[in-house]
This record gives sequence, structure tokens and C-alpha cells, in this order.
Amino acid sequence: MTQILIIQASARKNRSLTRALSEEFLTAWRSHEPDVRVVTRDLAENPPPFVNEAWIAAAFAKDPDKVSAEELTVLKFSDEIIREVEAADVIVISAPMYNYGMPAALKAWFDQVIRINKTFTFDLERGDRPIEPVLSGKSLVILSSRGEAYFGPGEVNFPHNHLETHITSCKHFLGVNTDPFVIHIDFQEFGDHRHTASKAAAHERARTLAREFARQRH
Ligand SMILES: Cc1cc2nc3c(=O)[nH]c(=O)nc-3n(C[C@H](O)[C@H](O)[C@H](O)COP(=O)(O)O)c2cc1C
Repeated sequence: MTQILIIQASARKNRSLTRALSEEFLTAWRSHEPDVRVVTRDLAENPPPFVNEAWIAAAFAKDPDKVSAEELTVLKFSDEIIREVEAADVIVISAPMYNYGMPAALKAWFDQVIRINKTFTFDLERGDRPIEPVLSGKSLVILSSRGEAYFGPGEVNFPHNHLETHITSCKHFLGVNTDPFVIHIDFQEFGDHRHTASKAAAHERARTLAREFARQRH
């Protein structure tokens, strides 16, 4: 049985294009694997706390046995979301572009997930590349939406696309060693025929990807 972890990052619960796209993806998956397990982490409903001084002190403590019970409580949220990542076979990040990058809640989620001796290890004996991820073998799907367009490689807005590129830079800490599958909706702010076509194409791609993926895994 496949376990999917879905991260919802849109601040909107209503009329959200990324939430609708991820629903389409999951519906298509369920039609091929009805008993797929889906865990949803909704960052709008339950925003991750920002890392702070206490969090850093507890996470980087040299001797974890000397960390007080009080200090450990600041790591509780991080522990919980790391367990969700560990248990997942497929991670779906459903994320709008905000100010050319990821929503702050999603960045806060990454800051809580990427943690020493949990999702990465650090050893200077490894030379210039001391960081190694701990997890492996997971797949990543990025479902995004943008008000503007032309954010693909070689296109005019590509230098401003810090959403998929940033997520891709962090993916190995989630245990993802392969290229992410990326589907996006464009032109939301224009609301014209280009947006309608982009949305229809993204939904079609989401259905096809879910079907192929579910078939492979089942
Ligand atoms: C705070 C905020 C910032 C945004 N910044 C950008 C941006 O930098 N570039 C862009 O193309 N669209 C931007 N948009 C438009 C959203 O990406 C677009 O509305 C998307 O559909 C939102 O996702 P949702 O429909 O799932 O809520 C922004 C929207 C909001 C609310």
C-alpha cells in the first residue's frame, strides 16, 4: 500500500487552484489504488512555528541526553512532521508561488524538517561536502500555481522562479533522489483563455501522472 504525504501550502482554503489540482491528483490515484493511505499536512490550518534560538540550541545540542525536557518540547512539531516524511513513499507539495518563491509557511515547514541527525548528518571527515541526507527512496510531485507565466527554463521569467528551484534544492533532505514531477497552472491573474487552457492541461497531466504512478506502484 502506498503512503502519500500531501503538503498544502496555499493560504486559501476556498478557490485555491493548487488544492483543487492536488484533489484531482489524489482522486485519480485512488481510482487505481483505492486503499492508498493519504496523510495531509495543511500549513494554512496549522502553520509551522519559525525556528528560534531555543530550537537551534535543542536541535544542535552536542549531547542530546543533556537536553532538558523543556528544550525538547520546542522540537515536538519538528519530530511530528519528520515522522510524516519518514513514513511517506510519495510526497506531494501543493504550493502557490508567492513573491517569486515558496509561501513562508512552506519555508518554515522545510526549516523544521531539515534537521541534523534526523534528516541529514554533518561530518567534516567527508571533506568539502560534509552534509549527507539520511532518507532515500521517495518520490516528489510539485503541484503549483502562478499568477504570471513563462517561468520555465529558457523563458523570460525563469530567473525569478525560486519556487520549484528552491524545493528541488532541498528535495534530498526529504529522501528524494530522483527528479521531481512538476505540474503548474499559469496566468491565474489574467483569467483569460491562456489561464483556462493552462488549468485544463495541468489537471489532465495530474490525472495522467497519478494513474501512471499508481499503476507502477500497485
Ligand atoms: C501573497 C501572494 C503573492 C503572490 N506572488 C506571486 C508572484 O510572485 N508571482 C506570480 O506569478 N504569482 C503570484 N501570486 C499569485 C498566486 O501564485 C496565484 O494566485 C496562485 O493561484 C495562488 O495559489 P492558490 O490558487 O492555490 O491559492 C501571488 C499571490 C499571493 C496571494
